[in-house]
Amino acid sequence: MVSDMTQSHPPRITKAVIPAAGLGTRFLPATKATPKEMLPVVDKPAIQYVVEEAVSAGLHDVLMITGRNKRPLEDHFDRNYELEEALSKKGDSARLAKVQESSDLATMHYVRQGDPRGLGHAILCSAPHVGREPFAVLLGDDLIDPRDPLLARMVEVQEQQGGSVIALMEVDPEQIHLYGCAAVEDTSEGDVVRITGLVEKPEPADAPSNFAVIGRYVLDPHIFEILRKTEPGRGGEIQLTDAIQQLAVDEKIGGPVHGVVFQGRRYDTGDRSDYLRAIVRLACEREDLGPDFRTWLKGYVTEEM
Ligand code: G1P
Repeated sequence: MVSDMTQSHPPRITKAVIPAAGLGTRFLPATKATPKEMLPVVDKPAIQYVVEEAVSAGLHDVLMITGRNKRPLEDHFDRNYELEEALSKKGDSARLAKVQESSDLATMHYVRQGDPRGLGHAILCSAPHVGREPFAVLLGDDLIDPRDPLLARMVEVQEQQGGSVIALMEVDPEQIHLYGCAAVEDTSEGDVVRITGLVEKPEPADAPSNFAVIGRYVLDPHIFEILRKTEPGRGGEIQLTDAIQQLAVDEKIGGPVHGVVFQGRRYDTGDRSDYLRAIVRLACEREDLGPDFRTWLKGYVTEEM
């Protein structure tokens, strides 16, 4: 059956899903009582960059998949009247604007995952909210520099081609075991490939390419039907990659799967070293902090290391 979702004018994408139910064990003890998504990258919680990215791609309806101990996420995107009043009394309008920025960003929704059964299962929890429209998924460990808009390009490709669109990045073949990996064919557009297969975290010898899946997806809603039937895969978890592989091999279900090859700046905040690198790189580039911080960093590297 060819789906009505594969018609040439798919519905406009308005919804973003952000899985945020992980335990953050790599950052213990910082994450014992604080969600890892709330760890600051310079002076903003990591999760705020991700919500801002969704909004700048035109997606104003954001659903977060959360779990226990994630209440601070809801508070961060809500009003804080006490703090707002204290700052307005002091006439501190700059800080007041910072406080209000996160609550004015998007229409936020939350659903709890309950059992931590993997990324595929987390996405399945969004099915009642998403309904029958294509939607975006943004993983919080990947930060995409706002100057290199990736998601907006993916939405554009999805609107032209239908089906699903996955963000890819070429990585050192030795690193491919850390990612989902795509088998691809060229298309007439330089930054777009056709995805013919996907495998989650292959050994370098088994990898079909060095095209890594980075954490941005625009998915056809047929993914939900597939996820309901997807058996646990790598690590005993229901893998989103395995479900997208089903879409890729049978385009009668949910249309084709394309990849947008990203060549911009991506910061990984998934483990401690990458997180520190992300902070240093972003701090260096900040107009307010960058000049002083770069001078200090140069001195530190040349004189103290
Ligand atoms: C997840 C996905 C993987 C993808 C990666 C991108 O893995 O399962 O396919 O390449 O995100 O960051 P995780 O890093 O959560 O283990």
